[in-house]
Amino acid sequence: MESTNQFLKPLTAKRNDAGNLEIGGCDLVELAEKYGTPLYVIDEQTLRSICADYKKAFSKYQKVNMMFASKSLCTMATSAILAQEGFGFDVVSAGEIYTVYKAGVDMSKVLFNGNNKSYEELNLALELGVGRISVDNFFEIDLLNEVAKSHDKTVDILLRITPGIECHTHEYIQTGHLDSKFGFDLTQIDDAVDLILGRCKKLKIHGLHAHIGSQIFETKVYSDEIGILIKEIARLDEKFNLKLNEINIGGGLGVKYTDEDCPPSVYDIADVLVESLENNIEKFGIDSPALFIEPGRSIISTAGVTLYTVGSSKQVPKGKKYVAVDGGMADNPRPSMYQAKYFAEVANFKEDLPLQTVTIAGRFCESGDILIKDITLPELFEGNILCVFNTGAYNYSMASNYNRVQKSQMVLVNNSKSDIIVSRETLDDLISHDVIPDRLK
Ligand code: LLP
Repeated sequence: MESTNQFLKPLTAKRNDAGNLEIGGCDLVELAEKYGTPLYVIDEQTLRSICADYKKAFSKYQKVNMMFASKSLCTMATSAILAQEGFGFDVVSAGEIYTVYKAGVDMSKVLFNGNNKSYEELNLALELGVGRISVDNFFEIDLLNEVAKSHDKTVDILLRITPGIECHTHEYIQTGHLDSKFGFDLTQIDDAVDLILGRCKKLKIHGLHAHIGSQIFETKVYSDEIGILIKEIARLDEKFNLKLNEINIGGGLGVKYTDEDCPPSVYDIADVLVESLENNIEKFGIDSPALFIEPGRSIISTAGVTLYTVGSSKQVPKGKKYVAVDGGMADNPRPSMYQAKYFAEVANFKEDLPLQTVTIAGRFCESGDILIKDITLPELFEGNILCVFNTGAYNYSMASNYNRVQKSQMVLVNNSKSDIIVSRETLDDLISHDVIPDRLK
């Protein structure tokens, strides 16, 4: 069965009677006029639809907990929607913890993850009642135990491990292979468990956690991952008489950025995972553990698009035609960081205009600031609105103020209504943290 992560565009994207592109019943040319550009637009229906896919696909396994990976997009409004849909949250910083807390999320459904959590962040996590902490390394075992003692609380933890799985994705977004900065190597797990059971009375281990990478199109890597996690659980039971009943397999399912991408459906992934779970539970003779999954990109990417206004263009003699838009690497760093490819359409009605192959350039002072290389579109003119698809994940969450440009605002669309969920930064916001020392005045 198809799932929403397999679509190039939000489910509600269509041409309206005026010939303009619309999403969530809102004309994108009108949205650009009303709110200005660059503008992130999130389609609520697409977001809720992928949540429904996940819930349906995994309903065949009794004990499933879905945690949205906040690093892909962390705003209060989207967190509130995901919480309504029954999701918990994987968070990696005080900022993400605070955002979901302020959005009214049930903090017992939050997992704090990361390879270098600070004392202050762990302290905040305990203060606000974060449900699980995924302990990443030896340093953190001691640090967390100290924080737990100071709160006089028992802390529920998972152990983050590196399962040694290579998946075929960009090197920077692979995480589960053996030489990785994340988690305990398989050969270090026993020492970690020994340390916790022997010395850290305030830490209670519930299970194992791994994450093998992002934008993954293979399914077999997930069944291999489950096999490794369950084998380790059985081994730890045998060696330490430690009963672990949770496995967290991380996130990673891919999305369709361009026509060439063919990510598997959530239903296929669920089948593979559940089959692997059942087989390995039987093979290693353990009780069925609760399964935690942490999808980020596959939940939020397709629901998001970014609108830009076309400005200058330049035909290089005997070279490319560059068309510049009013955003770029500060609102979407993925093309310059990972050579990521995107698909776009002109939102305005374009009757029978000749097609041209152009390169969409950003407005930032760097030659690498190219959003899309060689895309074929109807001829573009200054003032046209360009809609880049699949920008819901790792765009706003990785945005910067490079060149002192304000971050873009974000609107949520549904049933022909649009609401601001992140307002545009002002020039005063940009200088609000600057201080001129008295001696310079
Ligand atoms: N769980 C853990 C422990 C993770 O490290 C990640 C992503 C996820 C879950 C969510 O993975 P997803 O389902 O979103 O693939 N900035 C890069 C992606 C980095 C992903 C880091 N970890 C990009 O723009 O492609």
